[in-house]
Amino acid sequence: MHKTAGDIRAMKGVERIAAVTAYDYALASLCDAEGGGGKGIDVLLVGDSAAMVVLGQDGTTGITVGQMCMFTSAVARARRNALVVADMPFMSYQPGLETAVRNAGRLVRAGADAVKIEGGRAMAPVVRAIVDAGIPVMGHIGLQPQTSSLSGGYRVQGRTAEAAGRLAGDARSLEEAGAFSVVLEMVAREAAGAVTDAVGVPTIGIGSGAGCDGQVLVIHDLLGIYDRISPRFAKRYADLAPSVSGAVAAYASEVKGGSFPAEGHSFGMDGGEAGRLAAKGGGTALPRD
Ligand code: KIV
Repeated sequence: MHKTAGDIRAMKGVERIAAVTAYDYALASLCDAEGGGGKGIDVLLVGDSAAMVVLGQDGTTGITVGQMCMFTSAVARARRNALVVADMPFMSYQPGLETAVRNAGRLVRAGADAVKIEGGRAMAPVVRAIVDAGIPVMGHIGLQPQTSSLSGGYRVQGRTAEAAGRLAGDARSLEEAGAFSVVLEMVAREAAGAVTDAVGVPTIGIGSGAGCDGQVLVIHDLLGIYDRISPRFAKRYADLAPSVSGAVAAYASEVKGGSFPAEGHSFGMDGGEAGRLAAKGGGTALPRD
């Protein structure tokens, strides 16, 4: 049985939460392999960062609910143990409660166990409506990439005591509305620690220091396979880009040089059939059908 939102909520103060983004079957399987390298991952987040690291867009606002459903279903098929949380894309929850509940339902039908929405106290009614519909919600405050262009770009949040207080108020509103956890993105570490102390649900930090109840990283950053943006908080645990480029270059060179495929990479005809084919005059003499 995989983890539930209730299990993640109950981890606060007991065990740190390890979350990572995932968008496709192959990598999600590696991240959440039973007994394998991914052992210990608690949450697979189908982030709208897919817009950037998978689809090559400049920001996260262009991704649609349909595209998020496709990524979510692939990740859900791969998951063994972790909770699958899907990001609700920009404008899939802001226009109204009914729209928000309907789109959250689409992500759940695609395989999500929970959805994540960006925004503080202003989003509390949306969180409440989705939770009342039976769908667990993860909040997301601090830097909110969907609207960061409106609030001055990618900037560290919670740099002053007042700003930290506002973030704590936002987190409390989300908790009161029923959120089971809250992502804190790029929040000054002292402020993130204070927000974590202020709420009874776990905070999951990205670029917000060690005082959060858990951490999340974008899998492409962690593996070193996306270099258009590399934020300083995104620790690289592997540098796979040179291995991938090297493997593809070796393949191309073998194809061009004729050494791939070898006989072992191909299949022969049934016994005697190759001789019969040659006797018929080979390829040029074969009838069209
Ligand atoms: O979309 C995403 O990957 C996220 C994480 C950065 C928290 O929201």
